[in-house]
Amino acid sequence: MCSGCPDQVSCLFHTDHHTIFNSSAPMSASRPQTIRLRDYQPPAFLVERIHLRVDLSGGTAQVDATLDLHRNPAADNDAPLRLDAEFLDLESLTLDGAELEPSTLRDEQGTIVLHDVPQRCRVESVSRFDPAANTALSGLYRSGGMFCTQCEAEGFRRITPYPDRPDVLAPFTTTVVADRATCPVLLSNGDCIDRGALDAERHYAVWHDPFPKPSYLFALVAGDLACQEATFVTASGREVALHFYVEPENAGRTEHALAALQRAMRWDETHYGLEYDLDTYMVVAVGDFNMGAMENKGLNVFNTQFVLASPDTATDADYENIEAVIGHEYFHNWTGNRVTCRDWFQLSLKEGLTVFREHQFAEAMGSEAVQRIGQVRLLRTAQFPEDAGPMSHPVRPDSYVEINNFYTATVYAKGAEVIRMYHTLLGDDAFRRGVQRYLQRHDGEAATIEDFLAAMEEAGGLDLQQFALWYTQAGTPRIEVEDHYDAEHNTYTLICRQSLPASPGQPHKDPMHIPLAVGLLGRDGRPLAARRPDESTAHAHTRVLELREPEQHFVFEQCPERPVPSLLRGFSAPVKLHYPYTDDDLGFLLAHDSDPFARWEAGQQLALRVLLDEAQGTPRPDGIERLEEAFRASLEAPDTDPALVAEALTLPGETYLAEQMDVVDPQAIHDARQRVRAILGEALEGHWLILHSQHSGPWHYEPDEVARRRLRNLALGYLNAGSERHLSRALEQLERSDNLTDRLAALAVLADSPRAEAEQAVDAFYQRWSDEPLVVDKWFRTQALADRPDTVYRVHQLTEHPDFTLDNPNRARALLGAFAQGNPAHFHSPDGSGYRLLGEHVLRLDPNNPQLAARLLAPLAQWRRYNASRRHAMREQLERILERDALSKDVYEVASKSLGAMS
Ligand code: TRP
Ligand code: ZN
Repeated sequence: MCSGCPDQVSCLFHTDHHTIFNSSAPMSASRPQTIRLRDYQPPAFLVERIHLRVDLSGGTAQVDATLDLHRNPAADNDAPLRLDAEFLDLESLTLDGAELEPSTLRDEQGTIVLHDVPQRCRVESVSRFDPAANTALSGLYRSGGMFCTQCEAEGFRRITPYPDRPDVLAPFTTTVVADRATCPVLLSNGDCIDRGALDAERHYAVWHDPFPKPSYLFALVAGDLACQEATFVTASGREVALHFYVEPENAGRTEHALAALQRAMRWDETHYGLEYDLDTYMVVAVGDFNMGAMENKGLNVFNTQFVLASPDTATDADYENIEAVIGHEYFHNWTGNRVTCRDWFQLSLKEGLTVFREHQFAEAMGSEAVQRIGQVRLLRTAQFPEDAGPMSHPVRPDSYVEINNFYTATVYAKGAEVIRMYHTLLGDDAFRRGVQRYLQRHDGEAATIEDFLAAMEEAGGLDLQQFALWYTQAGTPRIEVEDHYDAEHNTYTLICRQSLPASPGQPHKDPMHIPLAVGLLGRDGRPLAARRPDESTAHAHTRVLELREPEQHFVFEQCPERPVPSLLRGFSAPVKLHYPYTDDDLGFLLAHDSDPFARWEAGQQLALRVLLDEAQGTPRPDGIERLEEAFRASLEAPDTDPALVAEALTLPGETYLAEQMDVVDPQAIHDARQRVRAILGEALEGHWLILHSQHSGPWHYEPDEVARRRLRNLALGYLNAGSERHLSRALEQLERSDNLTDRLAALAVLADSPRAEAEQAVDAFYQRWSDEPLVVDKWFRTQALADRPDTVYRVHQLTEHPDFTLDNPNRARALLGAFAQGNPAHFHSPDGSGYRLLGEHVLRLDPNNPQLAARLLAPLAQWRRYNASRRHAMREQLERILERDALSKDVYEVASKSLGAMS
């Protein structure tokens, strides 16, 4: 099929464009190419300007592009001009007005290669494609009634032939043409410089973005959209118009995101001195989106999930995520857009830094400790397993097959931890100066991680060459700490040993530069003063010890008694720390440590021990009693932040528990956790009943209210753990609540119950909310996470529900992603049915949306962690997938690396 290729125009690739320009070229014949950092070459040509005309009237998209190019002085003098192109029917291509001959133009990957091109030249092209057939959601596609784009990382080549790489920056001028009736709103990057009627049906708008940008930041939106407007006055007094566009049924749900944007803009000014630079900032909410959101210059595109908020359709957690993602995309305007990445290996240059800035913003807007706890939970459940598995890669990978597979927890979350460590080593002032220096020096350029590191070295006056190993060595460092107290000389010594396990392609590792924040506690629970040899006086504050050697001894003098060490305060490095704490030590730290993160961590470690011993069938003597005592202390603590109390009352998750076992037994972990929850539920019933009956008034999104709801819903969960005595409370809560947070907490309890009234309530919830896609997602998700004897079968049945579709990423993730990642006990059913269910849907999805298919596949990559029969059943699915002809690069890479067939 050559969609809409008119007869009078010669379609260059008419006969075989499908094998050449199709998305994710089939892999059956040739093995996909591995791209390597060490092969980086600067682009042969730079783009001075690009003019695009995108006509969306009629059935297909027609894209006319004019590129003014000149040879890059930094590149080889005879290197050819390369234009990436995929998915397109190229109707014409001219060089300085002369039609080009197709047969001489393309290489095996489908790239158009032009030799003997003049120093300066103009390339014009006309392409055509069908946005409605673009199910990969990369390039220009249809979502609901609108047209929208997603170009990161390599989607622009699916719109027009172009040097689609981040180190080619150009100012864009874009004309959008569409039918006025169906697409009254026409948007692209920058400022609208002209608009008007073309004929009776069609109209147009011309947008100009003066900031040179790489193609991955291009965006275009056309549709019938409602707009909420506000303004922001920058620190220097410029007025910026803020426009939030949504489909009409979602009008009225952008208030929260808009206020969050204003807070983010102000915070970036006050904290980093960074102002917004265009006259308009636009955000568009899209229902079909592969990721969370995208930072396109001046025109962010968001997954509806991360922008729309109303008490009936978004939970408290959603409200919080919206603020974080709004902040994240806004912060990219400097860290990502004004200064971008030279190549995709540098992805963490923008993502790690921007996630860190997002974290700082969230810490400034709410409770620092609660935010930090959430960050560490995510790191441990998503990044640590990735770092230990077959897809393990450094924060800066050195090779990839499909770059979309490297938007990972390692690049994002571990990347943010690496930035946090610079911050810890430099201190806040020098760190800020370093960021400013980096941005000033590279404004308008495509930079590298070395550029960032150099700016930090200069600002901090530090040598960070060893620190740079955080970017190149994969895996989670392990730190073993031992201590020694010399009562005769009043000296206390911490002995720290670091090691880093081997990972794919990296058998040997060098010692890292690791900041280890520590404090010492005296027997009275107060901070204990001591003196390090290089200090003039003793003090009791947190110190940052810098580990650089495989083994190091840190001596504290004038130490009057044997302290209890508080180690890795604030989680100062993304490591696994081991110190032989007794249960009493942990209880002591939990009660007395001045660092709230360390207190929480002590409680978690205590719970971890109890749960692991329980799971291994060797219950710890007085383990549960200790835990009960710790819970009671938290519940009765007078003026502790209720959000921190909620964190303390949340047991470590099943995935984190699995991390601690050599051979993971998901069922034993789940049963142990449920047993302990049931015991705590009963032992502390009085407390839970009080918490659950503390009724707040009408719903507000306000920190204390959020924490109260969380405590109330934790209580509901404990009351229903292991018994159905309090099921009526869940039924009643579902009935009476005025907000989604409370309804979903009740629904989660009911979804586990085989009782008829519970099943009816779950059905009624669907009937009531079936018109709200984001709520229906939650309904699917809740059942995917349910704990019932027939969970796998029910998930299978739900894949046949009329509202289930693999075409919508949110829906597919809500059911299959939640099941495979969030419900280990059932996904790992011993009969292999969970694996088969996933394998089957990955194969079904791959031809349409390879990016999503590869992401859903990830849990199977962990097969080595399980017993022989599970390993076998998981491998069987990976092998079945690899046998498929015409697999996408995305799924091919994940499946083959998982099996160790590729490194
Ligand atoms: N740059 C985006 C962010 O972190 C991520 C993103 C959005 C993305 N959509 C994508 C990455 C599609 C790859 C493909 O904010
Ligand atoms: Zn980002």
